[in-house]
Amino acid sequence: MGAQAHVFVTRELPGGALERLHAEHELEVWPERLPPPRDELLARAPELEGLLSLLTDPVDADLIAAAPKLRAISNYAVGVDNVDVEAATARGIPVGNTPGVLTDSTADLALALMLGIARRLAEGEAFVRAGDWATWEPALMLGRDLHAATVGIVGYGRIGQAVGRRLEGFGCKLLTTRRSGGVPLGELLEHSDFVTLHCPLTPETRGLIGDEALARMKPTAYLVNTARGPVVDADALARALHAGEIAGAALDVTDPEPLPGDHPLLDAPNLLVVPHVASATHATRGRMADIAVDNLLAGLAGTPMKHSVNGDSLTAQAP
Ligand code: DGY
Repeated sequence: MGAQAHVFVTRELPGGALERLHAEHELEVWPERLPPPRDELLARAPELEGLLSLLTDPVDADLIAAAPKLRAISNYAVGVDNVDVEAATARGIPVGNTPGVLTDSTADLALALMLGIARRLAEGEAFVRAGDWATWEPALMLGRDLHAATVGIVGYGRIGQAVGRRLEGFGCKLLTTRRSGGVPLGELLEHSDFVTLHCPLTPETRGLIGDEALARMKPTAYLVNTARGPVVDADALARALHAGEIAGAALDVTDPEPLPGDHPLLDAPNLLVVPHVASATHATRGRMADIAVDNLLAGLAGTPMKHSVNGDSLTAQAP
């Protein structure tokens, strides 16, 4: 076993994965439910050798610069938009992520959101619980069908394709767009009954779905976001829902997260919103913890991480 490294883990993780990290390194796990404040991260930076971060922890260039001994970052997520990967790469620090294991859970939730908003599940439940259900009525809670609908998938990587496979079972027609290729976004927006987002958050995709994109969607169409909140302009979406420009939206992710209680989206009609839980199953969150720990152990040992977003550039840089 090599020398013990100073490792900070920004939250307890489900399952027993952290025990493996604990067995090899000097570990501090942030014990609170809310993320460590910035000054807590900065206070640990000078001695930090390994960091296991969550998507709620900004690992930016300043933090990386304040941590001269840092040699491995492992993010407990597939998305790494909270990490300045360029700054880490410039320092030769590998950045790990957790792809693959959350693909199916995320795709399952995307389908749940499509069905939930189009068949008005949250509304129906509130109606029954409020005691408003008087009798079976021919026009009570009418929604729209997912089966045989045209679904636009924005971002056709691992998760987008897993959503597509599920929708084939529903007899849907798929329109897909990806970084290079597929149907042009405008065409997809105009023809889809559901638009579901599965692209990473990058400078190109930030605000991708704003006033103009929403105006191109059919007034009967639904927007579903299980990607990253800032891919959608939240104010534009609130305006579109209030104006009835689209039929509804179902969001697993929002901008900001969490939404403040007075955010205009929260009193918009036809909105289904859940708290960033697409990967939140016991099995998936446990597997994500295993991969995040494996990545950090590898990075600290100076061996390639199993899943790293900058592994190739680091190999290219190596003498
Ligand atoms: C991710 O991994 O990027 C998800 O948003 C959380 O599992």
